[in-house]
Amino acid sequence: MIPLDKNAYFMLSFFKFNIIKCYTLAAFLQKTYSTYYLPTPFLNCMPENDKIPIDILMRKAGYMVVYFTGTGNSRYAAEALAIRLGDELVNANKFIKSCKVAHLSSETPYIFVTPTYAWRIPRIFSDFIEKSELRGSTSAYFVMTCGTDIGSAGIFLKKLCEKKGFVFKGVLPVVMPENYVAMFDVTEKAEAERMIAEADNRLRTISELISGGKNFPAEKADLLAGFKSRAINPIFYRFIDAKGFRVTDKCISCGRCEEICPLNNVSLTNGKPVYGNSCTHCMACICGCPTEAIEYKRRTVGKPRYFNEKSPVIDDVI
Ligand SMILES: Cc1cc2nc3c(=O)[nH]c(=O)nc-3n(C[C@H](O)[C@H](O)[C@H](O)COP(=O)(O)O)c2cc1C
Ligand code: SF4
Ligand code: SF4
Repeated sequence: MIPLDKNAYFMLSFFKFNIIKCYTLAAFLQKTYSTYYLPTPFLNCMPENDKIPIDILMRKAGYMVVYFTGTGNSRYAAEALAIRLGDELVNANKFIKSCKVAHLSSETPYIFVTPTYAWRIPRIFSDFIEKSELRGSTSAYFVMTCGTDIGSAGIFLKKLCEKKGFVFKGVLPVVMPENYVAMFDVTEKAEAERMIAEADNRLRTISELISGGKNFPAEKADLLAGFKSRAINPIFYRFIDAKGFRVTDKCISCGRCEEICPLNNVSLTNGKPVYGNSCTHCMACICGCPTEAIEYKRRTVGKPRYFNEKSPVIDDVI
């Protein structure tokens, strides 16, 4: 039996699987979904919006850093890279939320910054990259913020690049505070600050690799990492939904949850948030609520939330 790490074990027990059932299901899923990608079923766009070709073209002589974020870690990392490399910063959440296809142009490699969801990039972001029109450079770097590790995410990013006709320049993890409050305890404040300081050092090294035009070092081939990214990831997507969220009487009707949800899954009705069925568990609503009025089942009651509102302070611009 392959030993499972803490995250993998909790994810599986969360879905109420025992390991044997999981292996059987994993074998089935691997056979059924041998490609890297399943279409995203949860984008809450108005059908007519989805069809409107929206021409947003950004021309840029330098790099282009494109990020997706739930609770701010990846925005922070993207900002740190953009400041150091003197780059354009593009927020994919805005495009996704407004159902717009991005038309971007960059003369030097694209840099995609993203959280890790079940040992791969979020499917919603992969979908965004696939749909976007990316002109100019045909190379891409990936930086994945994560609580512990990214598994073998690179295998799938390479396939995404092949599909786009891009050269894959590599993927590097940046360990940052854990945000998945619906599943785990988030990182406590003092530890979060220490982790962000370490992430700052790592982001400096990453920007040096990029500015030097180097490929990122290859990921280590590891059986367990491959198992997590290939097999547990599709199981994760089968089980996440918005059914577990509820709003308590601490709600002050500020509307932040509606505004922040990248999938337009939360809308205020009579001043109170109502959840739809399109959720990718980004944790933005539950962690971003200023009064902690949102709970996920019983798992989050009494637990602190995590949201990174900081901007990086960079005094060593390259
Ligand atoms: C749905 C979900 C799945 C996650 N899966 C992983 C994972 O597989 N490995 C990991 O190390 N961290 C995982 N995390 C932690 C986040 O990737 C990490 O905290 C990240 O920095 C959050 O970025 P953000 O603040 O930009 O959303 C997960 C978080 C969420 C919400
Ligand atoms: S963010 Fe919190 S307080 Fe504001 S509307 Fe949503 S649930 Fe209510
Ligand atoms: S409902 Fe909440 S957790 Fe789900 S996608 Fe929207 S903000 Fe993220």
